[in-house]
Amino acid sequence: MCKPEYFGVSYVINPWMQGNINQTTVERATHQWDALLSAVAGLAHVDLIEPQPGLPDMVFTANAGFLFDDTAVVSRFRFAERQGEEAHFERWFRSRRFSVLRMPDDIPFEGAGDALLDRGTLRIWAAWGHRSARTSHDLLAKMLGVEVVSLRLVDARFYHLDTCFCPLDVGYLLYYPPAFDAQSNRMIERLVPSELRIAIDENDALNFACNAINIDSTIIMNKTSAELLQRLHAAGFVVIERDMTEFLKAGGAAKCLTLRVNEPRQHQWMASQTA
Ligand code: ARG
Repeated sequence: MCKPEYFGVSYVINPWMQGNINQTTVERATHQWDALLSAVAGLAHVDLIEPQPGLPDMVFTANAGFLFDDTAVVSRFRFAERQGEEAHFERWFRSRRFSVLRMPDDIPFEGAGDALLDRGTLRIWAAWGHRSARTSHDLLAKMLGVEVVSLRLVDARFYHLDTCFCPLDVGYLLYYPPAFDAQSNRMIERLVPSELRIAIDENDALNFACNAINIDSTIIMNKTSAELLQRLHAAGFVVIERDMTEFLKAGGAAKCLTLRVNEPRQHQWMASQTA
């Protein structure tokens, strides 16, 4: 995670930021971020990266890159406003002994904002349409030797995959179907059995319910409706709500303020499947 010392809305690169320039305070953001950190730290070890002045979106570490095994595919941001983050994240990955791979400079790819591992099978779900280029998906599959399923995002409010799609423990999927085109929805329905799909409504989606951190059976999110809470309980999950409204003004919430850095090694994955 990255402390929101320099967080703010100082440009507009997604619809959430529109009208929110200078409407956040570091004090409120820090208060919410500290509460998120303590919730996560109760379930996992949290490592931090030093925030940098002039990079107000660096708090959204999900966009640092895509991690798998000991490889980090560093992000190549679509917008110049965030490209200054790339070198800092790359340095952090190297300091933690990841072997670092990069997309070609002309192929935008926004890391774990747009590429997510399924939690029930070895598969990467990746999105294109707003930020990452579709061509990044084939490259990602080749770099990591893992199947990548390409999904097309069609609603500008849900511009990153992790704003509308969240693979959960043992193969459940929390998602907002209208954020995807018809073909992508068919693909999701074909690959994820209906009893594992938890489709949410617009109200929950706009509260960033899909931008959730899932650690084992616990889910941390900004806010859930009573109905969604009940469905998640029925699926065996416990939900922790943490107010993330200050970050919603920048178009992010709980999950994109984090990056999971211990994604399973492939051989461990295989072993757990055959055990
Ligand atoms: N303002 C940031 C941007 O538009 C928010 C990023 C949120 N990150 C995420 N993975 N959804 O890039």
